[in-house]
Amino acid sequence: MASSSPTLSSEQDKGLGWMEWFRGWFHLIHEVLFQRITARNLQNPLPLPPLNGVTCIVTGSTNGIGLEIARQLAESGACVTMAVRNLTAAHELIQNWQNHRSNTGRLNIDVMELNLLSLESVVRFSEAWNSLSKPLHLLINNAGIFSIGEPQRFSKDGYETHMQVNHLASALLSILLLPSLKRGAPCRIINVNSTMHLIGFVDTNDMNFISGKRKFTSSKAYSSSKVAQLMFSSILQKRLPVEAGISVVCVAPGSVRTNVARDLPRIVQVAYHLIPLFLFNAQEGSRSALYAATDPDIPKYCGKLKADEWPVCAYFSYHCRPMSPSKEAHNISTSQIVWEKTLNMIGLPSDVVEKLLEGKEIQCRL
Ligand SMILES: NC(=O)c1ccc[n+]([C@@H]2O[C@H](COP(=O)([O-])OP(=O)(O)OC[C@H]3O[C@@H](n4cnc5c(N)ncnc54)[C@H](OP(=O)(O)O)[C@@H]3O)[C@@H](O)[C@H]2O)c1
Repeated sequence: MASSSPTLSSEQDKGLGWMEWFRGWFHLIHEVLFQRITARNLQNPLPLPPLNGVTCIVTGSTNGIGLEIARQLAESGACVTMAVRNLTAAHELIQNWQNHRSNTGRLNIDVMELNLLSLESVVRFSEAWNSLSKPLHLLINNAGIFSIGEPQRFSKDGYETHMQVNHLASALLSILLLPSLKRGAPCRIINVNSTMHLIGFVDTNDMNFISGKRKFTSSKAYSSSKVAQLMFSSILQKRLPVEAGISVVCVAPGSVRTNVARDLPRIVQVAYHLIPLFLFNAQEGSRSALYAATDPDIPKYCGKLKADEWPVCAYFSYHCRPMSPSKEAHNISTSQIVWEKTLNMIGLPSDVVEKLLEGKEIQCRL
């Protein structure tokens, strides 16, 4: 997402070098202006293989990119759970999709409640899903917020809302679903990240943006949450033994015309919706996640991380090519701190991955 203007801020001297900051903005502007040209060889919709027998969870699938991911996976034969906070909207969507398929068989799709603004809701969702004892082949952490121009807000768990929805809650979900993912191995966790991670960094002493040292803006909070997700994903992939068969991948969808702009001032919103020439539609924006979910070569890219010298998890660009995430995301010691602080914030013990893979019970201290 590249909606805010590149105003100079104190960002550069507090964690992100000038060069990195300018390079990040260059990539963002380049993405908006040239993504259609760069991705011109990609088909739309992305052709998917038959996915019968594949079980998927897609978070935030009532709108935008997530809606497209869920619909296309289900239409390719997968069994999809829409993990959403608006159950009525999800049921209406399913009804509508089923109505258009009278001759082609019913979609295998259901709905479960998940509100990422509540860590308790994540725990309830995971317990309910794990209790089905089904294998989980694809977890797509798509739901996200970018409350452009809004004042700082906190969840009822006490966390800054971008950090909670975009990183903490999806991290908790990924970990708590490990028993089901293990049952589905080889399987994948796909995180819908953002090119905006290139202009962000995580202040590990203030992941919750409360010290007052950094002036809060929604862009800083959004980009920090995406860097945190990327760093956490890298350490998660390192902690998962190869035999577990779980691949962790981050993707950038491109700059996509979705509801993500709902909080923009009215006049900017009009402009935003007037530049379809540059922006992807949601179906185009779903391609990188669907590619990461279905391309047979993905585990090879994830295996690379096992070599200690490679610090960052697999990352795919909006044109479905492997891309190198920011220099910041390559910082293994910061990633390790982000991993530890995240586990602490979501109430999980430091050996949670090992325990869950051994089939042991864990307590989430919320
Ligand atoms: N659009 C872009 O240009 C762009 C660029 C880079 C990355 N992304 C990323 O792509 C992902 C999808 O965004 P989008 O553009 O499709 O935005 P969107 O149209 O606003 O869709 C976001 C989805 O997330 C759900 N969601 C938000 N808060 C939630 C919560 N507390 N609990 C559960 N679900 C929640 C929304 O549910 P409701 O329907 O109930 O609101 C909605 O279904 C996000 O992670 C975003 O950061 C988008």
